[in-house]
Parts: sequence; structure tokens; C-alpha cells
Amino acid sequence: MEMQTFLVTGCAGFIGSNFVHYMLEKYPGVRLVGLDKLTYAGNLENLADVENDARYTFVQGDICDKALVEELLRRHDPDCVVNFAAESHVDRSIKNPELFVKTNVEGTVDLLQCCKDAWYDAAAKTWKAGKKYLQVSTDEVYGALGPEGYFTEATPLCPHSPYSASKAAADLFVMAFHDTYGMPVNITRCSNNYGPCQFPEKLIPLLINNARQHKALPVYGDGMQVRDWLYVRDHCKAIDAVARAGREGEVYNIGGHNERPNLFIVKTVIAQLRERLGDGAISEALITHVADRPGHDRRYGIDPAKIRHDLGWYPETPFEKGIALTIDWYLANPGWMAGVTSGEYLKYYEQMYKNR
Ligand code: NAD
Ligand code: DAU
Repeated sequence: MEMQTFLVTGCAGFIGSNFVHYMLEKYPGVRLVGLDKLTYAGNLENLADVENDARYTFVQGDICDKALVEELLRRHDPDCVVNFAAESHVDRSIKNPELFVKTNVEGTVDLLQCCKDAWYDAAAKTWKAGKKYLQVSTDEVYGALGPEGYFTEATPLCPHSPYSASKAAADLFVMAFHDTYGMPVNITRCSNNYGPCQFPEKLIPLLINNARQHKALPVYGDGMQVRDWLYVRDHCKAIDAVARAGREGEVYNIGGHNERPNLFIVKTVIAQLRERLGDGAISEALITHVADRPGHDRRYGIDPAKIRHDLGWYPETPFEKGIALTIDWYLANPGWMAGVTSGEYLKYYEQMYKNR
């Protein structure tokens, strides 16, 4: 039986909302139930164009609210629970690690427990057929690479930030539910995403927002840290492939061998905005080196051989195209950016960057 019904937690965030769009576009018969607490990172505007689509239902709520999750599992009986819900920003985790434990670790365990209660027959020791829990994790759980080599699924977990420690802890619980109870699970570990609807606390949208206003472009340390950038739609495609065809109990790394030093990203955004807007004041003079992030991982690089070989996944969007699409989207949606950069964001920005 084809998977048709998905519970998508964290659906109003960056990747979750792109996943909802991807699935509705690809599968005419899909049913999506989106659950999101609507923290500062959750934004229903990301889903405004699908809010009247009969195949999609939104519920505001917390993944830690087990009564609510149990009710959603009963009412909608999803084939697959895809957990995007998380506190996702490394810098915020350095300031407030407890929140990351609450949402990323406890929230994941709560979801696992609810799925187990709904899908497991303890007397018969059997699971309902056709069910799966998919944990959206991150390459950051592997820690940092030196100049050589890549993360494979066998790389030991070695997180350095409170964010990545919380994601690693969640991954261990997911595997514990598989190993102990036989729960049908997958974990995906993707590299840095970029694309439409990313909150401007993350590097690329922050640069776009600042550069347009001729504000300083903060570069942590020497700016030679390397990230492996993947266009968000390619991540969504990979999650769909793992949900449908991933072997139970397996981890899949997701990345497109697109490693770039941060300064390359900064200069690319400057050059593209300058050209598109014909604005000579958007220049490399805006680059401002600031204090490095504590515990900053030097390099990430994914080996995607397993997902490519086993599931036939490959990234479709080269970086040059993806970054142009991303900048186009932000330029076409100034209202979106204005909406998320007032009030609380300004306080956040001052707290994070003033006197840094
Ligand atoms: P995001 O911060 O943009 O979105 C997170 C969403 O989760 C928001 O809509 C927020 O409201 C919601 N949320 C937070 N706490 C919740 C709770 N307790 N209950 C319900 N909803 C809650 O994050 P993102 O960048 O879209 O990342 C999504 C997932 O993908 C995360 O698990 C993250 O660890 C993982 N990931 C992100 C990247 C990346 O580059 N952004 C890469 C790999 C993996
Ligand atoms: O690798 C996957 C991870 O990618 C995800 O799990 C996280 O949820 C996501 O936030 C992202 O983490 P990073 O810390 O790599 O992303 P961020 O955009 O915060 O930073 C990218 C790089 O840019 C990193 O080396 C830090 C640097 N940076 C970031 C900001 C916000 C700067 O130099 N200046 C900045 O102002």
C-alpha cells in the first residue's frame, strides 16, 4: 500500500513548510496533518497558499503534548510521522540549552512513545503494518571534520553544541525504540539547507536581509568554516524517498557534495544582490569579522553514497541555480522578511550581535 497520510510536525518552519508544498505538488492523493507549536520560527504565512487545500490540515500544538498527539494519531491514523519539530539554531542553543533538551529530546521521546502506544500490540509483540516514524536529524551530530574525509552513516556521533547534542540524544532514543521494541523507524541526517522561507537567524537569509539594508554582514571568526549546502527541495525529495523506501532501522545521510567556506557564501550573496538590485553600496566592504561561535565546527561534508545507491536519490539543484532561486524568492517576498524581522527579531539581533 502506498503511503498516503503523513503527520508532519514542525510543518510551519523552514523545511517543514517546504516539505508540505513538495508533497502536495507531487502526490494528488496525499493527506497531510501539520502540527506546529508556532514558536518564533513557525510561520503560517509559509503555508498560506495551501491553507484551503482539502488534503492539508493544520493543528497548532506542541509535540510534548502527548494527549494531543495521541488524539491526532487516533483521528488521522497516519502511515508516517515525520518529525521536523525542533529548536534548530546553534547560537540560540548556546544561550538556552534547556529549551533544546525539552523540545528536541523530550519532544522526540514523547512522539516515539505516542507512536508506540498507537501502533504496537504489546501482547502479540507486533506492529501495525505500513507504519513508520521518520526523525529528521542533522549532520551536526557527527561533530566536525578536518580537511579530509566525509561523514558516513558509520561515523561515530560526536556533537559539540547543545543543539547538536540534543539532536544526537534524540537519534539515540529513536534507535533505542527500534532496537528495544522493533519500532519501524528511519533517521535522516542532512547537511545545511538553504531556500525559501528560512528564518533570518541562519546565515544566508540573514545576509540577504542585512545586505539589502547596507548593514554589516557578520562573519564568525575567519569565515573559513566549511558547510555542505543543499537546496531545501532536494532535502524534501530525500525525506519522501526514505519515508517510502528506507529500510527499517536505517540511517540515511543526505547531502550533495557542495562544500563551501562561509566567506564564499557571503561573497556570492553580495555579488548576486548587487547585480540584481544594481546597488553599488552592497559590497564586500560590508563584511565584518566578529567573535567566533564557541565550539564552532570547522567543516561538515556528507557522503551521500548510501541514499544514492539504495534509494536512487540525487540532488537536482546545483548551487548556482539554488542560490539564484533563493535570492529571487527573498526579493519577491519583502513582506515576508519584514514580517519576521520586527519586534522580537530586533531584540534577538541586538543580543546576539551587539558588541560581539
Ligand atoms: P525551523 O526552526 O525553521 O522550524 C522548526 C519548526 O518547529 C518551527 O515551525 C517551530 O514552530 C516548530 N516547533 C518548535 N518547537 C516545537 C514543539 N515543541 N512542538 C511543535 N512544533 C515545534 O527549523 P528547520 O530549519 O526547518 O529544521 C527542521 C528540522 O530539520 C529540525 O529538526 C532540524 O534539526 C533539521 N535540520 C535542519 C537543517 C537546516 O539546515 N535547517 C539541516 C538538517 C536538519
Ligand atoms: O548542518 C545542518 C545544520 O545547519 C542544521 O542542523 C541546523 O539546524 C542549521 O541551523 C544549520 O546549522 P549551522 O550552524 O551550520 O547554520 P548557520 O546558518 O547558523 O551558520 C552557517 C555557518 O555560518 C556557520 O559556520 C556559522 C556561520 N555564521 C552564521 C551566522 C548566523 C556566520 O559566520 N555569521 C552569522 O551571522
